[in-house]
Amino acid sequence: MVKLTDLLASTWLIPLASGASQSFLTSTTTSQPQFTIPASADVGAQLIANIDDPQAVNAQSACPGYKASNVQHSPRGFSASLQLAGKPCNVYGTDIDSLALSVEYQDSNRLNIQILPTYVDASNASWYLLSETLVPRPKASSNASVSQSDFLVSWSNEPSFNFKVVRKATGDVLFDTEGTVLVYEDQFIEFVTALPDEYNLYGLGEHITQLRLHRNSNLTIYASDDGTPLDSNIYGQHPFYLDTRYYKVDAQNGTHIPVKSSEADASQEYVSSSHGVFLRNAHGLEILLRPQKLIWRTLGGGIDLTFYSGPTQADVTRQYLTSTVGLPAMQQYSTLGFHQCRWGYNNWSELADVVANFEKFEIPLEYIWTDIDYMLGYRNFENDPNRFSYSEGEEFLNDLHDSGRYYVPIVDSALYIPNPENASDAYPTYDRGAADDVFLKNPDGSLYIGAVWPGYTVFPDWHHPKAVDYWTNELVIWSKKVAFDGVWYDMSEVSSFCVGSCGSGNLTLNPAHPPFLLPGEPGDIIYDYPEAFNITNATEAASASAGAASQAAATATTTSTSVSYLRTTPTPGVRNVEHPPYVINHDQEGHDLSVHAVSPNATHVDGVEDYDVHSTFGHQGLNATYQALLEVWSHQRRPFIIGRSTFAGSGKWAGHWGGDNYSKWWSMYYSISQALSFQLFGIPMFGADTCGFTGNSDEELCNRWMQLSAFFPFYRNHNELSTIPQEPYRWASVIEASKTAMRIRYAILPYFYTLLDLAHTTGSTVMRALAWEFPNDPTLASVETQFLLGPSIMVIPVLEPQADTVKGVFPGVGHGEVWYDWYTQTAVDAKPGVNTTIPAPLGHIPVYVRGGSVLPMQEPALTTRETRQTPWALLTALGSNGTASGQLYLDDGESVYPNATLHVNFTASQSSLRSSARGTWHERNPLANVTVLGVSKEPSAVTLNGQRVSPGSIGYNSTSQVLFVGGLQNLTAGGAWAKNWVLEW
Ligand code: GLC
Repeated sequence: MVKLTDLLASTWLIPLASGASQSFLTSTTTSQPQFTIPASADVGAQLIANIDDPQAVNAQSACPGYKASNVQHSPRGFSASLQLAGKPCNVYGTDIDSLALSVEYQDSNRLNIQILPTYVDASNASWYLLSETLVPRPKASSNASVSQSDFLVSWSNEPSFNFKVVRKATGDVLFDTEGTVLVYEDQFIEFVTALPDEYNLYGLGEHITQLRLHRNSNLTIYASDDGTPLDSNIYGQHPFYLDTRYYKVDAQNGTHIPVKSSEADASQEYVSSSHGVFLRNAHGLEILLRPQKLIWRTLGGGIDLTFYSGPTQADVTRQYLTSTVGLPAMQQYSTLGFHQCRWGYNNWSELADVVANFEKFEIPLEYIWTDIDYMLGYRNFENDPNRFSYSEGEEFLNDLHDSGRYYVPIVDSALYIPNPENASDAYPTYDRGAADDVFLKNPDGSLYIGAVWPGYTVFPDWHHPKAVDYWTNELVIWSKKVAFDGVWYDMSEVSSFCVGSCGSGNLTLNPAHPPFLLPGEPGDIIYDYPEAFNITNATEAASASAGAASQAAATATTTSTSVSYLRTTPTPGVRNVEHPPYVINHDQEGHDLSVHAVSPNATHVDGVEDYDVHSTFGHQGLNATYQALLEVWSHQRRPFIIGRSTFAGSGKWAGHWGGDNYSKWWSMYYSISQALSFQLFGIPMFGADTCGFTGNSDEELCNRWMQLSAFFPFYRNHNELSTIPQEPYRWASVIEASKTAMRIRYAILPYFYTLLDLAHTTGSTVMRALAWEFPNDPTLASVETQFLLGPSIMVIPVLEPQADTVKGVFPGVGHGEVWYDWYTQTAVDAKPGVNTTIPAPLGHIPVYVRGGSVLPMQEPALTTRETRQTPWALLTALGSNGTASGQLYLDDGESVYPNATLHVNFTASQSSLRSSARGTWHERNPLANVTVLGVSKEPSAVTLNGQRVSPGSIGYNSTSQVLFVGGLQNLTAGGAWAKNWVLEW
């Protein structure tokens, strides 16, 4: 969202005597001039982030640490008591003098280390314990034991309690707190682990940052609504990292010698091992990465660390998802189609025009979305009768559904609270919630009233036993009026545009305008364009920059330079949740946790404060929405939900979009690492706002971005209110570029869908970093400009303006790997580790098929429904040893529990390709053709199950080494996979 500095700069806010301000009318129900919440309502304290504070105390030097005693061994591990080893330091809270340590070898590949205060009672349980209903703890398997474990934990009291986690197989120390003290206070925990020189860490979200985390960076984690600034905390909380270590194996004695990726050479032989670490903690977190160490800091909670032994990334991810946070939700087949959205689609007929334009230009479109524009006064579950009437909507949606397309509306987290003095301001959704008392409260028991789009709002209290039913009921009622096909769940950090319960006592001012200009309102006209727009569109760029300059001059304010910071001194025994003594580098103005969010003292029905569960609001809202959609569709259809704020485990209910990115090249660049990180977090259904959200897009950026996102699982174009339109049909070259990329996407939908199924059933990833798919090549450890889709497709996009080539590496080529160009179908000639220059004029996205793959495909069409009615094709890309394999999963694409499924396996070797299927899903479409790449010799004949394929249907090109076998429809008329078959050439 909008930065506070911009808000304060606005001259459009006219101060009133009361300190409030008045604005022009916006699209709400009232005909009175609308009250604007003063910008000052969202201003908190000025704090200095601890990491920047020269006065900050270093807990490591001030605190005494602990001593372990009373060690009790059990078959699955040991426990001990930890006593404070000296005078309490009380640096950022009150030291806990007595802790309980538990080390549990939970499975051969999983270890849990938990450190909690010994004395926890009902009054403070939530300060330290995260509810297992909210976020389950991994459980030990029945046969777990110390001796079976991949790990070994050792500990020492010298000079104070510290522990090490060792990988037994290699003796490698994975976690090591020696030489540091454990600091454990009610509002601050710190523990430090040593890491190898030049470590390779991934994950720790949510951040817009490089894929392999920078070794000198401060990663704050705390759900926050602030657009997508680089390196700052944003929407989600995923305290999980993957640690990959590379070695050279000594040929003489087999020992592992650590290798730095910066010193590796792609043509040499290496091995690697990866492990994962998850801190189950929902408090504000800070992870400080430093050379050779990692410092964990939390604002509370406990230490509940789980280690996953891998030893590959794929193993680590599977172990993390299956044991701890849950496997990702299976998505409907249709959700892989293209999604068009924008903030500013003003009525049903505008939507109809957009759909018609996609048809006219023959660009695939599957889902059309609406933003808050459809709502009456920005109220959830109520359509604006003038612009989005239910009756007109019914017609529109009937036609849309008939055409094989779908509709997703936004649903926000907060709910409007009516003006008590305005009898016509009825809002039954609020009334029903109030009757059940399901909204968040202030500490004194009064309603917590914040502010979001509709004005003053309340927030569902997800801890309330009736909250899910309430939410479900609202969605069910609304679904009878609007036949939506999914939910876009937004603002769930949970965002609130003011500090504290700012609406208390102010409800007669509702509906109020947010305390900042909406994009496009006078004073916030968007003049911003992508980098290089000044080269491609010099005249428009000049006039935009003149407009921007005069707007800036008109809205300029002077800012005072002297700031005095609020520093909180801990009071023993008393927590300060509003301004905790340790200040995380939270990205909101002043680093105040209360700014632009529901405040930390907002209180749930069970007495738990927001402070202790802040980042789980969105997670719980996704759960509620998932349960609601199951009900809306009578458990017949998989809930389709895309959410903004996620927590560890949200993937089991929803996908995620990257949030409010920018129409800038750097935003497109970082969408790749954001997407890859979310694969590690178990949320494979990820996509970024294609062509950029904030600011105007342009032809060149949108062209490249439409092509890049075609290879992300969730493929949506979305745009901010008042910016120029950016649907793919707006520019001639973008039409062509989108169609080109979409032809590939829609052809490989069966492959894509199979990847979703594998993620859902086994915990594998859909998008993959090169480093994960080629774990023994240290030179790939930081590659973030290219990626794989599943194991078989590699994409090397252009990520900068004004380029007509791109550089990319072809992993494994020194070790027998073959890559075929998607378009020419010929093997690429590349050298190991060499950044090869690839022609990539505008409109061309380099895509490669990995030798050894069989890709099931259908014919591209304008909707996924149409594609599913076309004959099949198989692309068989032989590896250097002449073999290939692949798989296919099919079902009805929709059911929560499909009653018929089909698994097909493909294997190619020795000039033959076999298909063998199991399952009862009947796929009626025949197989039309098989293309085999890498066939060195022209075959004399081709047979399918011994029957000769007509020579007229066979093509062979000796230069490209491509064999094409067509004319297979008749031989497979009962369905491509109805019988097992072998194709021989
Ligand atoms: C938030 C969302 C954005 C949406 C806007 C209006 O900023 O992140 O996608 O368009 O709200 O609802």
